[in-house]
Order: sequence, then structure tokens, then C-alpha cells
Amino acid sequence: MGYLRLGVNIDHVATIRNARGGLHPDPVRAARVAAEAGADGITAHLREDRRHISDVDIERLVREIDLPLNFEMAATEEMLEIALRHRPHAVCIVPEKREEVTTEGGLDAAGQHNRLKRYCQELGAAGCRVSLFIEADERQLEAATSLGAPVVEIHAGAYCEVEDDARPAELARVIEAAEVAERLGLECHVGHGLSFDTVGPIAAIPSVAELNIGHFLIGEAIFGGLESSIKRMRALMDNARAAATGQISA
Ligand code: PXP
Repeated sequence: MGYLRLGVNIDHVATIRNARGGLHPDPVRAARVAAEAGADGITAHLREDRRHISDVDIERLVREIDLPLNFEMAATEEMLEIALRHRPHAVCIVPEKREEVTTEGGLDAAGQHNRLKRYCQELGAAGCRVSLFIEADERQLEAATSLGAPVVEIHAGAYCEVEDDARPAELARVIEAAEVAERLGLECHVGHGLSFDTVGPIAAIPSVAELNIGHFLIGEAIFGGLESSIKRMRALMDNARAAATGQISA
């Protein structure tokens, strides 16, 4: 059981900026604050409709930020070209529908196997660590293995969004998926919808190597500042992981 990385997703800093069309608040400044607050990486999703992160944001993140960039993208020719131009540390392939508010559901890695194969190969050959954002589903995990992706990110939306009494069952699905991923030799990340209240049980899963968290951290920053919200998340993650390894009592 190793260190649990925190990737801070800065998309919604850009959402607020774009609401007025100017330059403030600057997502690259947020990435700098995240680095100082203990983030291990920066995550940004360049959507087809550019509703938050822009092409210039990605160029600046690559140029100005030392932390590894996890570039989230849909499997389209346009995004592949951009990723191959910038060669970020990691690329997470996500499903994308124009009309959705956020990424609803995971990628159908099994159903789109033939189409995704070339994306995984080209991005991997360019030196990017390829991750597939999938549901906690064994079929999808097996598809990720046969696509040659070294990493999967399990969609935590169902776990985060259900009523409290149904959450243990959703947690059990994520735990099982993380175990299957480990058995298959896949590095396992988890993301989407995590908050101070939901992060602990996920951080305690021993084989999970990274969490990617955005919307909650940016929202919470309104009340206590970005540095404080990231530091608190980092502490909750570290405490849950330490308790799970028996280093401190839960
Ligand atoms: N991981 C992936 C693959 C995502 O698509 C998103 C949302 O953009 C996140 C993590 C972060 O989710 P949230 O903003 O809900 O924390």
C-alpha cells in the first residue's frame, strides 16, 4: 500500500472565469496554489465545446506548471492531435456528450474497443500514461487491459451521489473494482464527485494510487480559500490511508 496522490482538477476555476469572459480567476494561478497546498498533479479537461478550460489554458499549464498534468479528453481526432502536440504526463480518456452538464457515466471501453485501440497506442507511444475513465465494472476493466492502458480511473459518481443508506453498496462496487484492477496489473485511480464527506472510504482502499478531485474543492474555496480546501482534503486522504494501514487508529 503506497502513497495516495491528489490530482486537483481546475476546470471550474475556468468555468467562473468564462462566466464573465475575462481573465479572472486564472486556472493557472489556481494550479500554482494547488502545488503549494500539496497537490501531486493538475487535472484539466479540454472539452469539445471549450465550456471551461481553453486551448491557451492547456498551453500555459504545460509551459508554466511543474506538476504532472493529467489531460482529460474525449476520444476524438482533434483532442488526439492536441495531446500529441503537448505530450502531457498523463491522458485520461473520458466519454463526452455535448449536452451533458458533467461527465455522466464511464467510457464504454468494452463496446468501443476497436475505436479506442489506436488512441491508446498513439498516446502511449508518445510517452503519455494512458488512463480510461470507466465504471466499476469487471468487463470494462478487462477491456482496459486488452487495450493496453496502464491506468484506469473508476467513476465515483454513483458512490458519491446515492442516498446515504445505499452508499455502502456503491462503495463495495468501487472496492471490488480496485481489487480486480490490481489483479489485472492496472494502476487504479478514482474520481468524480468526491467531497470531504465521501473521500475517506475511497482513500482507505489500499490499491488506489490517485484521486482526482475538482468541483467540490473549487466550490469549498469560496468559503475558506483554495489552499485551505486542498490542505483539508489532503489531510483527510492521508488520515484515511494511514488508518487503513494501521499507522494510526481510525
Ligand atoms: N476524474 C474525471 C475523469 C473527471 O471527468 C472529473 C470531472 O471532470 C473528475 C475526476 C473530477 O470530478 P469532480 O469535479 O466532480 O471532483
